[in-house]
Amino acid sequence: MMVNWETLEAACYGCRRCVLGETRTNVVVGDGAKQADIMLIGEGPGEQEDLQGRAFVGPAGQLLDKMLACIGLDRTQVYIANIVKCRPPHNRDPKPEEETACLPYLRAQVRLVKPKIIVCLGRIAAQVIIDPEFRITRQHGIWVERKGFWLTATYHPSALLRDPSKKRDAYEDLKLLRAKIDELKIS
Ligand code: URA
Repeated sequence: MMVNWETLEAACYGCRRCVLGETRTNVVVGDGAKQADIMLIGEGPGEQEDLQGRAFVGPAGQLLDKMLACIGLDRTQVYIANIVKCRPPHNRDPKPEEETACLPYLRAQVRLVKPKIIVCLGRIAAQVIIDPEFRITRQHGIWVERKGFWLTATYHPSALLRDPSKKRDAYEDLKLLRAKIDELKIS
């Protein structure tokens, strides 16, 4: 059972639950502070993440760092994970069976980190974590409280790199995140 970080990490590093394990270079378990009040959940490792074994270290990660800095946060105050822990070939969307296979690891991470806030980055994470019908253009920035967690979603930084006109909306979402942090008196 994945009741501590050592067993969770060992399970991830040896994982062969789906085909993504056949093509990965490294498993990307997560990054940041393991005791953070804020957890960010992306989609899956990209090329740089796969090569380095760390979450959000490529171009999307650099933008994510800037987004966090906008509201006075850095990686020492958040924990960052992904829906799938191995890179989908050519950065295709993870398949439902890959998401399902990987979900026990994410659940274990949530149990260990015990965040107060979970921010989904992009549609894929929002549909897995918040609502299978989640529409990111309509529902970004909305907050729901569930099982003691505050949940929200914003645009994935890769989507902002593709379409910078969405950055304005993402900034509004970040300000709402800052307000929630202040309201909950955390970090
Ligand atoms: N995109 C993601 O969703 N996750 C990463 O770790 C990197 C890029």
